[in-house]
Amino acid sequence: MRIILCGFGVVGQNFAKLLLSRSEDLYAKHGLKPRIVGVFDSTGSAASSAGLDLNRLLEMKKKYGSIKKYHNKEKDANGLEMISGLEAEVLIETTTSNYKDAEPGMSHIVNAMKNGLHVITVNKGPLALAFPSLFELATYNQVLLRFSGTVGGGTPILDYAKNSLRGERIVSFEGILNGTTNYILTNMANGMTFKAALADAKKKGYVEADPSLDIDGFDAAAKLVILANWIMDMKVTIKDIERKGISSVTTADVKKAASRKCAVKLIASCDRKLVVAPKEILLDDPLCVNGTLNAITFNSEHSGQQTIIGRGAGGMETASSILRDLLDIKQEISRN
Ligand code: HSE
Repeated sequence: MRIILCGFGVVGQNFAKLLLSRSEDLYAKHGLKPRIVGVFDSTGSAASSAGLDLNRLLEMKKKYGSIKKYHNKEKDANGLEMISGLEAEVLIETTTSNYKDAEPGMSHIVNAMKNGLHVITVNKGPLALAFPSLFELATYNQVLLRFSGTVGGGTPILDYAKNSLRGERIVSFEGILNGTTNYILTNMANGMTFKAALADAKKKGYVEADPSLDIDGFDAAAKLVILANWIMDMKVTIKDIERKGISSVTTADVKKAASRKCAVKLIASCDRKLVVAPKEILLDDPLCVNGTLNAITFNSEHSGQQTIIGRGAGGMETASSILRDLLDIKQEISRN
């Protein structure tokens, strides 16, 4: 399976490492032979129709901070040229999420689908802004669009709700979908101020390049959009989410919650409305997880409440979700 990889940051590099370490069993167990034929990021590009040497690619990125040196050539192909010019079956989109215009990811995905490529995205921006129309485009072009890493990182939240609970009717759900704000609120519950907790989260590398995406609830809202479209068949975008972040949560709020055996968490909920906002939840609620963990509780008509807990971020965790999607695409293609 020939792949074009957009973005060679933490997730892209971890995906390359994952392919290197798993190539034998992927072929033996699943008959999958992934070949990355093109990679580009903001620093350059590399392409080979025979498949790129992933060790060399990782080495160049580590040594020079860029993949441009892979071929030792002056001129680089830009991403869109690569998408329309290179023979491939799948595009993997890992560039940074942005919620203003979703670029450059949006153009990568749209052009790939128009060129007949299946798409796997871990970039939430395009889905948050245009989930319904991107799905229409995928159907129109008869390609598959997969995105399991966009919610829950390596934890298969979307797959659980869509496939394990098939036949059920999910009535509502609520969850902690952003690891960074959960880490900050956990630290605040342990006595830190918001400012110190944010600085600590930044030091640990959890916070997005633009901290407002985490703090003001955009990341959680994007994940809520994806869940609402995929699981509840709602046709919504980020504009439909009522959103409030955690910057106004004080140490006093957190203490008051503790005195009531509760914790303040940034909760994304889908009931009658779609809301992201800080909320007090009981300490013994299964949803009440700490640190960078994510958790989500589904309320379904016949099987009751179920909560899934897991790490919602991380380079290797997210890379593993891409592999899951790749196997899913392979299976769908073989079935058809
Ligand atoms: N900034 C996100 C989080 C990363 O903290 O959960 C994963 O989407």
